[in-house]
Amino acid sequence: MNGMIVKALVMAGVLIVGTLVVVKQMNIDLSDPVNMITFIGAVAIAVLTFGVSAKYMAQMKNDTATGELSEDNWDGIGEYKNPLPSGWAWSFVATLIWAIWYFLMGYPLNAYSQIGEWNQETKAYNTKFEAKHKNADAQTLKDMGESIFLVQCAPCHGDTGDGLSGKAQNLTKRISKEQVLYAIKNGSHNFKYPLGAMPAGMAQGKDAEAVAEYVSNGLKGKAPASWATCAGCHGQDGKGNGGTAPNLVEYDNTLVAQVLEHGKKGVIGKMPSFKNRFTPVQEKALAEYIKSLSSNK
Ligand code: HEC
Ligand code: HEC
Repeated sequence: MNGMIVKALVMAGVLIVGTLVVVKQMNIDLSDPVNMITFIGAVAIAVLTFGVSAKYMAQMKNDTATGELSEDNWDGIGEYKNPLPSGWAWSFVATLIWAIWYFLMGYPLNAYSQIGEWNQETKAYNTKFEAKHKNADAQTLKDMGESIFLVQCAPCHGDTGDGLSGKAQNLTKRISKEQVLYAIKNGSHNFKYPLGAMPAGMAQGKDAEAVAEYVSNGLKGKAPASWATCAGCHGQDGKGNGGTAPNLVEYDNTLVAQVLEHGKKGVIGKMPSFKNRFTPVQEKALAEYIKSLSSNK
């Protein structure tokens, strides 16, 4: 009996370690409460599965049965005349009926499902929305962007986009000195610009300081010598070389689209990806609104 429990615990342990490996491999963020609850659920299922199996296996080994034996006997193995539990029997019949109904009338044969219907309606609505706002003017986009921003982005970036005292990026300013130094030291691997990731160590010591100061000031004044390296990719004017690298001077549509698709991890923290959450018009609207935040300054 004890050996059985030890084995069950070992099996449960193996499953939990397996789950942890998957969590690690897939980069699942356990500080997110929903992920954590799911993970605890997986651990509970592993422990319960092996615990309950161990209990019944031990019972099968040790228990003695009672009741009336049938006359059949196979090499000393008998059978009790237990009536079929009616609850079990009815559930079995109900499952069969449901399975036949589901196969013939429900999903998948005629392809109806509530999720499918919802997806279809959303798609149809989005197509209509995209067509309607295809040529929306800047003011319409900005207003639209503001309402999306207040719901989706303000919880981290603040109602005014000021970043809530460093909780998220201050969007009224393109980039801080700290962030530039971080990118120089660690490289940047957040987005999918045509130039790929930026390697770490593009400048050192005083050169890094000087160039970070220059970039965080919006490239005003005289460029330090070390800017030459950066300019090779970010463009002499720092505006991203026609979309091949991030624009370091101001927010633009490409940067906002990249951040929304890939999220961002940097010196301030982590912004989740909003991939497939917005239509192209909505992304443009958000970019328009964010651009307006810094031009107000
Ligand atoms: C080899 C080309 C290349 C060079 C040289 C280069 N960068 Fe970059 N940089 C990139 C690319 C591409 C990205 C975006 C990479 C990503 O995150 O996917 C980037 C990202 C950045 C970011 C992060 C932008 C953001 O929005 O988070 C900063 C800041 C930055 N670079 C500053 C610099 C500075 C300062 C230098 C010079 C010391 C420099 N870069 C040199 C290509 C380059
Ligand atoms: C969960 C918090 C959170 C939410 C929600 C969020 N962000 Fe962010 N965002 C951040 C953080 C943190 C950063 C800075 C990351 C860093 O550089 O360390 C950031 C950075 C940015 C940047 C600057 C990227 C760069 O490369 O300089 C933009 C633009 C941005 N967010 C736009 C948005 C928009 C638009 C939304 C709403 C659709 C949004 N964010 C929602 C946390 C958030």
